[in-house]
Amino acid sequence: MVYEDVTDTAPCFPFYFRQVLAGPHENFHYVLGDPATREAAVVDPAFELERLFGVVERDGYRIKAALFTHGHWDHIGGVPEVFGRGVETAYLHAAARDHAKVAEAPDRFRFLQDGDRVLVGDLVVEALHTPGHQPESMCFLVGDPDGPRALFGGDTLFVDSCGRTDFPGGDTDAMFRSLARLRALQGDVTVFPGHHYAQHPSRSLEAQKAENPALATTDREAFGALHCLTH
Ligand SMILES: [Fe+2]
Repeated sequence: MVYEDVTDTAPCFPFYFRQVLAGPHENFHYVLGDPATREAAVVDPAFELERLFGVVERDGYRIKAALFTHGHWDHIGGVPEVFGRGVETAYLHAAARDHAKVAEAPDRFRFLQDGDRVLVGDLVVEALHTPGHQPESMCFLVGDPDGPRALFGGDTLFVDSCGRTDFPGGDTDAMFRSLARLRALQGDVTVFPGHHYAQHPSRSLEAQKAENPALATTDREAFGALHCLTH
């Protein structure tokens, strides 16, 4: 089995967690699950799904939900295959209601708004609407606020940078506001990005508030000049 699980900095979460690098664009897929019910959800499944689902099955979990951070093909490309592999429901922000992938399996999608919660067994996943890379971009926050939490950044927040805003639908003002909101999160939060674009596959949010120029830059004009917005 060739399977790359690159997690090396994840805290000891009280929930099932896997970080997997897959596909031609260094995408990260994530799986999180409830140890009590053995139900799991996958974030942004797009590539090498047979391997991904096989590992989770061997771990004793069943992936019942797919959470999509946004509608770019390298994140949502696993639709409709995931439905044939046991996923019952897919979650996407309501701004992407008219996405072509939704039309392939319209009965399977549920549309989220900011602050909505998805239950994976008894595990709570909070949806944060973070437009900027795309209008429907979301981050997902998982875990108890008093304990270690995981923030799935999609193409909004990477380790040491942020998603670009020069694709159709991108909005630099919105990205600036979305990152300010993520910067305000407190507690033991680890950032898990949508792509492996940095030296580290994950970093603590507290560290990134100083290390990551996209989070550290609070001046709008200086933010607009950041290289990562266009590269
Ligand atoms: Fe994207």
